[in-house]
Parts: sequence; structure tokens; C-alpha cells
Amino acid sequence: KKVLFTASEAVPFIKTGGLADVVGSLPKYFSKKNYDIRVMIPKYSDIGEEFTKQMHYMDHFYMDLNWRQQYVGIFELEYGGIKFYFIDNEEHFAGPRPYMGIPEDLEKFAFFSKASLSALPTIGFRPDIIHCHDWQTGLIPVFLKDGFQQREFYRGIKAVITIHNLKFQGVWDISTIKNITGLADYYFTPDKLEYRKNASYLKGGLVYADAITTVSKTYAQEIQMPFYGEGFDGLMRARSENLRGIPNGIDYEEYNPLTDKNIARKYSAKNFRKEKVKNKTALQRELGLTVDPKVMMIGIVSRLTDQKGFDLIAYMMDEICQDNIQLVVLGTGEARYENMFRHFAWKYGDKVSANIYYSEEMSHKIYASADAFLMPSLFEPCGLSQLMSLRYGTLPIVRETGGLADTVEPYNEYEGTGTGFSFKNYNAHEMLGIIRYAERTYYDKKRAWNKIVDRAMAVDYSWNHSALEYQELYDWLSE
Ligand code: ADP
Ligand code: GLC
Repeated sequence: KKVLFTASEAVPFIKTGGLADVVGSLPKYFSKKNYDIRVMIPKYSDIGEEFTKQMHYMDHFYMDLNWRQQYVGIFELEYGGIKFYFIDNEEHFAGPRPYMGIPEDLEKFAFFSKASLSALPTIGFRPDIIHCHDWQTGLIPVFLKDGFQQREFYRGIKAVITIHNLKFQGVWDISTIKNITGLADYYFTPDKLEYRKNASYLKGGLVYADAITTVSKTYAQEIQMPFYGEGFDGLMRARSENLRGIPNGIDYEEYNPLTDKNIARKYSAKNFRKEKVKNKTALQRELGLTVDPKVMMIGIVSRLTDQKGFDLIAYMMDEICQDNIQLVVLGTGEARYENMFRHFAWKYGDKVSANIYYSEEMSHKIYASADAFLMPSLFEPCGLSQLMSLRYGTLPIVRETGGLADTVEPYNEYEGTGTGFSFKNYNAHEMLGIIRYAERTYYDKKRAWNKIVDRAMAVDYSWNHSALEYQELYDWLSE
């Protein structure tokens, strides 16, 4: 079976969040014999030279998008055994980041969506299934039904869309979107793209795709309810027959404490008791924290947004900092959270380290060094950071929502089970209570703590299981 992934980002080329991890790593885990999975993303100007130098120019053509003729260049690069295609157009993709939340983005991704479809005959790849990811590619199933499928080459191609985050919907006013996309009035009704008097790309994708998936079982349930549905819960209920939750995995080669080149001391489930702590003291030295192998270090690696529960953390920061802990933060995002962490790093210089930037290398160091990882999300479609933490024996402290509820089993001291700590309600005191429970376990019951680490490092969140679920979905669709 032939499948084309289309998305706005993919590791190692360009990444703003977990979407890129998924799109860049999942294709490697399909059975090569039966599935030919290829990936298409925009050729952003800030893709590193180490990649652009190796890319190979295939061809170009001009495409009509509404009233304009636009240049579409196609580049190709085989990476890690997977064929990646890059859609080139400097006017659209010279900007710095995949998604800025401005109307130009809507134009960019209307272009990218139509170009992805238009480029297929030139490439000579006719997929059985186009697998779209998030709002940026939501128009693909719409374009496919509108015009493309009347042409022999495209007839019978199925579309899947995966929701990585229902909050981002690609919404703008109808007249602008009509103008950008060239779609007829017919599409701008509440049963199609129209959404609260505006129009939404994601909604288009959700209405027209043959199947919808999201990235955890619990989130697939949650989004059918108003609290998590972001206004689309009715639509999700209406399409529930074709909606599946398939949990994310992580790349077990990229995230492996035994081979990780970014960390001071490599370790495994066998020797973490001795070795992991050396990463902690190395990081304390590097970041100017008090060097103390015994103190409990809590890590955070995240986009700094409301989604991740930072208002709970902001509310409790002073309290948390009264405890004998260290907090290491790596993240960028909303200014109020960036400044909040800078403030507390100034106020508690020897125990709080605020690293307000983006760095793969530093993220690996934190996953390897911290004892616990804090992620009290308001909602979480899946979450990859907690999976990375588990892999490095860094115990997640999470709120029980979406993928966090599915992947972190709460510690039960009576039964000796669990891989982390979790709380239920979106409440700062509940969060503080569970952080302190983790602290007590860490300081007073070290043996029990180490057993939790044993279990955490033994769970398997590699892509192997989930790739099978996607294969099953593709088979079902192309029957
Ligand atoms: P989301 O996609 O909602 O941001 P995920 O947990 O699915 O959350 O994925 C986040 C990914 O982004 C992880 O790979 C995490 O390590 C990475 N990440 C987030 N912020 C940073 C940062 N400042 N520096 C490096 N990596 C980061
Ligand atoms: C989104 C979600 C995150 C998920 C990621 C990859 O960014 O916020 O929970 O893990 O996509 O699917």
C-alpha cells in the first residue's frame, strides 16, 4: 500500500512541537514490505543547510490557486530510509516558523495543500491513502473531493486526517478564505467549512476525510464532549464511527539513554541507580544550580502555553520553591510564562533555572538528569514529553487527561505498581499535593522510588504497536 503523509513539519528538518516528532519518526516503523510511506512538507527557508545541500531538485510547475498562478518546486531527499518531498515556493515558505497564527498562514497552507495534490503526477507517486495532519492540511480532503477526484489519476484516493491538537483550527472569515482557496460558495455552510460565521480548514478536513484519528484513546473520547471539543464536539460525535484514537510513540533510537550523545553519562535500566545522577550534577554545574546529587530535580520541557497547565504552576511557584527541590525549565511561548520563570529564577537563583530558548540538546540533558518531570496539562491530545521522561527513568508528574492518563500509570504504594504520579482535577492545590507526595517518596522511600523507575524504564512506548494500528486502518480504508 502506498501512503503519503502531508504535514507542516517533520523532524529532523523542522519542528515546533510533537507533530514534527510524529511525522518524522512514525513512517520508519511500518512494515517496509507492505507499506510504502512517504512524507511531504514545505521547504522552509530555515531548514538547515546540512539537509538542503543534500536535497535533490525534481521539477517545478505553475499551479492555479483561485485567481493566481503560483510556482511549485519539488525537492526530494531520502532520509533514514524514508522519501521526503519538499514543496518549494519562497514567497510562502521564507518565513521563520511553520505557524504564527496570522492570515498569511492560511494562504500558505491553502497553497501547500493544493500543491501537495498537484505534485503527485509529477513525482510519479499515486498513493492509495493521503494521511493529513492537523489544520494545515485540512483542505486536502476538501480539494480531493472538489475537482481532483474527477481526474483519473486521483480517483479512489482515500484521505485520513489525524488531529494532533483540536485547539488549532485554521479559522478566518469566509470571504478571505473563499478568496484564498477559490472554493465555491457551496462549501461555506455549517455542515461543511463554515464555523460560527467563519470558515475552518480543520473542519473541512474533519467533514471530508474518510477516517479521522487522534493521538490517544482518551482524547478521542474527550473531544466528543464540550469541555474538550473546542466547539467541534458535535461534529466529533457525528463522526464517531470513523474516529479512532491511536496513541503516539517516540523514536526509541533517538531517545535512548544508552546511546544518547547529548548527555554527560549514558545509562540503562540496569545501572541508572549509579549513573543517572551524574547527569544531574553535570547539569547543575552547567546551569549554575547548587551542585548536590541528593536534591530532587524536577524538569519541564515544553511550549509555554495555557494548554500545558502553566497557570497552575505560576500559582504554586513560591510554595514549590519552599521545598528542597530544584526546578529546571526549558521552553518558549507566551511572554507571561517566560517572564514568570525568569522571575523565579532570579528570586531562587540556586534552585530554579529558566532556559527560555529552544534546544534539542538541552532537552535531552533535562530528560536524562531530572528525577521527575512536571506536565500538569489542561488538555493533552497525547504528549510525547512524558514518554521521553519514562524512557529516561524520569518520573512524570501529570494531570490525568488525554494521552497523559493513558500513558502514565499512577504510583500505588500498597500494590507496588505505577510509573509516575498523577492528579485528577485542574486545581493547583491538587497538583501541589501530588508533587509533595512525589517528594516524600523520593526522599523517604528511595527503594520504592527506584522500583518505580524500573517500571517506567520497562514500559514500551516505541512506535511498534501504534504503527500496526495505522496499518490496520489503512487496510480497512483501502478494502
Ligand atoms: P506539544 O506537541 O503539544 O508541544 P509534545 O509533548 O507532544 O507536546 O511534544 C513536545 C516536543 O517538543 C517534545 O519532543 C519536546 O521535547 C519538544 N520541546 C518542547 N519545547 C522545547 C524546547 N524549548 N527545546 C527543545 N525541545 C522542546
Ligand atoms: C500536539 C499535542 C500533543 C501531541 C502532539 C503530537 O502538539 O499537543 O499532545 O503529543 O501533537 O501528536
